[in-house]
Amino acid sequence: MRVVAPAKINLHLRVGRVRADGFHPLLTWMCTVDLFDTLTLIRGPRESNRDHKSDATSPANAAESDDWFSLRTDHPTLPTDRGNLVVRVAAAMADTLGRDGEGSTGRRERVSAFLTKRIPAGAGLGGGSSDAAATIRALAAMEKLNWTAARMSEFAAQFGSDVPFFFHGPSSICTGRGEIVRPTPAPARATYAVLVLPGFEMPTPKVYAAFDELKLGSDDSLDAPPDFAAWAELKSEDLLPRLVNDLEAPAFKLQPALAELKAKLEQLEKNRIVRMSGSGSTLFTLFDDEATASEFARRVRLETNVGLQAVRLAPAVNMSAMSMSASAQV
Ligand code: C5P
Repeated sequence: MRVVAPAKINLHLRVGRVRADGFHPLLTWMCTVDLFDTLTLIRGPRESNRDHKSDATSPANAAESDDWFSLRTDHPTLPTDRGNLVVRVAAAMADTLGRDGEGSTGRRERVSAFLTKRIPAGAGLGGGSSDAAATIRALAAMEKLNWTAARMSEFAAQFGSDVPFFFHGPSSICTGRGEIVRPTPAPARATYAVLVLPGFEMPTPKVYAAFDELKLGSDDSLDAPPDFAAWAELKSEDLLPRLVNDLEAPAFKLQPALAELKAKLEQLEKNRIVRMSGSGSTLFTLFDDEATASEFARRVRLETNVGLQAVRLAPAVNMSAMSMSASAQV
C-alpha cells in the first residue's frame, strides 16, 4: 500500500498570546503543495534488520524494528525509531486498536514501512506531520477500520498541532492550536509558489519562545478573521500584500540570515513580496502561472545558492487515495 504525504505552506499565520497549556492560539490559512513524501507499507514477514547494512541504524533503531512495525527511509539522517513520528503513530494505533477491540488485535502481522523523503525537515512545510497523517490513513485502511476523516483527525491531534490539517486539506483555515480545521477555497488565481529552502532547520519551540520574549501576539488579530474566500479570488500581486506571518519576527531574530535572504529575494523584482511558511525556514512567494514562477526561480538560482522548488498549490491529489501495489519496493 502506498500513500502520498504532501507538504503544506502557511499562506497566512496570525499568532495570539501564549495559553496556559504553553501553546499559542492560531489563525492560519494552510494549503498543500505538490511536494510529496511517499509511504509504502507491506504487510507480512519482513527481512531481518541485519539484511539492511546500508541503513544508518543505531542500536535503538534495531531494537525498535523487533516490534511489529519497522521503518526504513532513503533519508540519510532521519531516525527510524520512536524519534520518527511515523513509528510513534504506528505504536499508538496498535495500542488504541488493542484497547478498543478494533482491527486485527492479538497476533498482529508485521508491517514493513519505507518512507521516501522529499520534504525537507525543520522547514515549516509540515513534512513530519504529513508523514504522521499518511501513516494513520494507511494503517486504518490496512486494518479495514471504518475511521472517518473526523475520527482520524481527532486521533491525529496528539501527534502535533498541524497533523489534523492533512485530513481536511488541500486548503483550510486552522484555529485553536492548529487542530480545529475548516476547509476553505484554495487560491483560484495565485496557484503557483516558489519555495526557497535555505538549507538549515528552524526549531519550532524556540521560535515560539522568541515570539514570547518579544512580547508579540494580540488576540485581536484572531478575533476578526479576514474574508479568506474573497482572498482566494485575488491575483498573486493583490494577495501577497495581505498575507502575514507573525512568526517571521522571532524567526528572523533567531536566524538573521533568513531576514537577509528575504530582503535579497524581494529586491529581485519590483513589488515582489516574500513570506515565511510556519516557523521557517522555508520562504515562499506566489505566482499566477507556472512560467512566471519558473522564471523567478531561475533568477534566484543565479543570485543565491539556496534550494528552490516551484510548486502548484492545492494539487489535485486525493489524499485518501491509496494504491495496493504488489510490486512495491520495500
Ligand atoms: O504541536 P507541535 O508538536 O507541532 O508543536 C511544537 C511546539 O511548537 C510546541 O511544543 C510549542 O512550543 C509550539 N507551538 C505553540 N503553539 C501552537 C503550536 C505549536 O506554542 N499552536
